[in-house]
Amino acid sequence: MQETGLRIKTFGDPVLRKKAKPVKEVTAGHRKTLNLMAESMYEHSGIGLAAPQVGISAQLIVIDIGEGLYKLINPKIVKRQGAQAIQEGCLSVPGICIKVRRSRQVWVEALNEDNRPVRIEAKDLFACVLQHEIDHLEGRLIVDYTSFLNKLKIKRKLKALKAGAKACKLQL
Ligand code: NI
Repeated sequence: MQETGLRIKTFGDPVLRKKAKPVKEVTAGHRKTLNLMAESMYEHSGIGLAAPQVGISAQLIVIDIGEGLYKLINPKIVKRQGAQAIQEGCLSVPGICIKVRRSRQVWVEALNEDNRPVRIEAKDLFACVLQHEIDHLEGRLIVDYTSFLNKLKIKRKLKALKAGAKACKLQL
């Protein structure tokens, strides 16, 4: 596998549990990071990636569900509607697949890489991925959506699995 220089942090790394810092003003540095994150996401066949997953505690996410690349800064859910449950995987929790109940439709406000406000209306898979990545910015992982008993099982499974194992179709 090609390396972009950004390593994916996995379950157990404290950066995944930290609240990511909001970006005050989008700079060339942030744009470069977003590009590297996108490269890394494509390399790992992911459809979403948040900066904490590459060890950067800043509110930056990239998403591409096959309908073009989104690079979002300080994304916030301002409205939600309905419910859905999709089997999700996460590049930071390799080998694990969890059915997560989320809103079916979300409205998100963010900045784009030109520092301009954008508003996105998303539903189904796109809405799921947005919620998953925004969770990462809050230090929340898919394992948090499961029962205590399940968490213990997952912990054991994670220990047994080699990093990089992919059990789930959707890697976010
Ligand atoms: Ni993830």
